[in-house]
Amino acid sequence: MTVILGLESSCDDSAAALVTADRHILAQKVVGQTAAHQPYGGVVPEIAARAHVEILPALIRDVLCEAGVSIRDVDAVAATAGPGLIGGVMVALLAGKGLALAAGKPLIAVNHLEGHALSPRLADPDLGFPYLLLLVSGGHCQLLEVRGVGDYRRLATTIDDAAGEAFDKAAKLLGIGYPGGPAIEALAARGDPRAVPLPRPLLGSPEPHFSFAGLKSAVQRAVVAGDFRPEDIAASFQQAVVDCLVDRTRLALRRSEAPTLVVAGGVAANTAIRTELRGLAVSRGRRFSVPPAWLCTDNAAMIGWAGAERFAAGMCDSLDAPARARWPLDESAEKVRGAGVKA
Ligand code: KG4
Ligand code: ZN
Repeated sequence: MTVILGLESSCDDSAAALVTADRHILAQKVVGQTAAHQPYGGVVPEIAARAHVEILPALIRDVLCEAGVSIRDVDAVAATAGPGLIGGVMVALLAGKGLALAAGKPLIAVNHLEGHALSPRLADPDLGFPYLLLLVSGGHCQLLEVRGVGDYRRLATTIDDAAGEAFDKAAKLLGIGYPGGPAIEALAARGDPRAVPLPRPLLGSPEPHFSFAGLKSAVQRAVVAGDFRPEDIAASFQQAVVDCLVDRTRLALRRSEAPTLVVAGGVAANTAIRTELRGLAVSRGRRFSVPPAWLCTDNAAMIGWAGAERFAAGMCDSLDAPARARWPLDESAEKVRGAGVKA
């Protein structure tokens, strides 16, 4: 059975995993850096890169040891090659290149977004192509038609902030720590989602794009006004994000024949978001698939799995594969008016 070593270091999680082509995770480890970045309310690239250098080699040793697998038994090494914080991306990619060279194994340079995009197929053996994917993470908020391995058509993206970024910024405004998503979700559980009037940017607009910057500013005004309980702000904010995601995805479903709606990326760990999108899929007669929460947030099992899918398709890379800060899944997608540099 094909065994792939997956490596990840594109943001603030160092991770290694051994994954087989028949969907067995032989071992997997993720070490986050929350404590190192917490004082700054966000990820500091230099701190992240140095921490990856310190953490990743031990994780690679650990997963090989735990699975009882030698690097000689591995069929290929899959490492994230972007997009992400370039100093961090280089750590897993160079480690992967070194191991591939030393052990004489093929290298697979994985797009981190493809890791998220294909991760639902690791958890759900019945999920075939094509599917409509809502990819919601700290750096991205996109609707994509996933037609096959390496074959993506972008239907929509954010014109400003990503959904996870909005969660992180709202949490920072509320002073409840980093990463913001889990902190907001926990606080929102005790609040009233109708208590604070907040906008739903782009709701009902004719293209299924997203925007969250205005929502963040409205949260800031609500915090400064001091008239609302923090748990009510958190619950109202989360509900506004859910409403935007559902509305935009509903529109994209009208433009795609894909039989299944899939949600992936760190924000897909959110229970309210999972529940509402499942409801949307069912109401439109589509199948719904979402990976378990641990597979939504950054990990190396998804990188190993994307590697397994690429390996099966004969898509290996040369040892001079570059590390890329920016790397859109759909290279042909046009820039959206108002969009920054994000893909
Ligand atoms: O996919 P991911 O782990 O890393 C990136 O590739 O960006 O996503 C991280 C993002 C962060 O913005 C974090 O706040 C958000 O996912 N997140 C959540 C939850 N768990 C993580 N957002 C909402 N609810 C959650 N439970
Ligand atoms: Zn990610």
